[in-house]
Amino acid sequence: MLLGVNIDHIAVLREARKINDPDPLDALSLAKRAGADQITIHLREDRRHIDDYDTERIIENSQLPVNLECSINSDIIDVVCSYAPYRATLVPEKREEVTTEGGLDVKKYFNEIVEIIERLKDNEIEVSLFIDPDLKMIELSNKIGADMVELHTGTYANIYAMLYSNLSNTKHSIKELELPKSELKLKLIESIKKIEHSAKEAKNLGLEVAAGHGLNYQNVREILKIKEIVELNIGQSIIARSVFTGFESAVREMRELIN
Ligand code: PXP
Repeated sequence: MLLGVNIDHIAVLREARKINDPDPLDALSLAKRAGADQITIHLREDRRHIDDYDTERIIENSQLPVNLECSINSDIIDVVCSYAPYRATLVPEKREEVTTEGGLDVKKYFNEIVEIIERLKDNEIEVSLFIDPDLKMIELSNKIGADMVELHTGTYANIYAMLYSNLSNTKHSIKELELPKSELKLKLIESIKKIEHSAKEAKNLGLEVAAGHGLNYQNVREILKIKEIVELNIGQSIIARSVFTGFESAVREMRELIN
C-alpha cells in the first residue's frame, strides 16, 4: 500500500503568521526518508495554504511523485497543466468549507470533467477523481476516462470518531451522527462495506483505487484490510502527531502501520 503524505497543513501553519516558516519544501526529504511514496498538495482557488510558489518549488524539487489536488475551475487547470505534476486529483471545492467535504459530483459536472481530463492527458498528467464510495460515481469515473479514483473516507472517519473518541465535543460535530452507540456501530459497518464494494467495483473496471480523508493511526486499520486500495493520502493526523514527535517520526509511524 502506497502512502501519500498531504503536507498542506505545514502551509496552514505558515499562513497563521503570514511569514515564510515553516516551509513545506522542508518536508520533502524527510517524508522520503521516512518511507512515504508520494507528496500530496492541494492548490486551492483561494490559495489559503499551498500557493503557486510552493507548488512550483515542490514539483521541481520533490524526489517523490507529486499528486496535485485541484478543483475543476478552468484557471486552476491551466496552472496545473503548466506545472505538470505526476498526477492531478480533481476534488470539489467550496470557499466556506474547512476541508474537502464530500466527493466530486461526476454526474453533474460530466461535460466539464471530460474536457479537463483531455487537457490534463494532453500534458501527460495522470488523472484521479476524488469521489464518494458510490457505485454510480465509480461507473461514471470509468466512463469518463479517469486513471484512478480516490474514495472519500470522511464519513467512515466521522462515524469512527463519534464511536471511539469525543468528536461530539468539537465544533465540527455532525449532528446526524449523535445516535446511540449500537446504531453508530451499524453505520460504521455500513460505511466500511460501501468503501469495500466501491473499491472492488473500481478495480474490476480497471481503475486504480486510492482512499483518503480523515484517516488516522487508529481508523486506518480497517481500510488496510481492503486489498483493492493501493494508496492512501493522509494529512491532518500526520501533521498533528508531528507537533509532538516530529514530522519524520510521524510519517515513519504511519508507514510502519501501513506495512
Ligand atoms: N485526499 C484528498 C483528496 C483530500 O482533499 C484530503 C484533504 O486535503 C486528503 C486526502 C487528506 O485528508 P486528511 O488531511 O483528513 O488526512
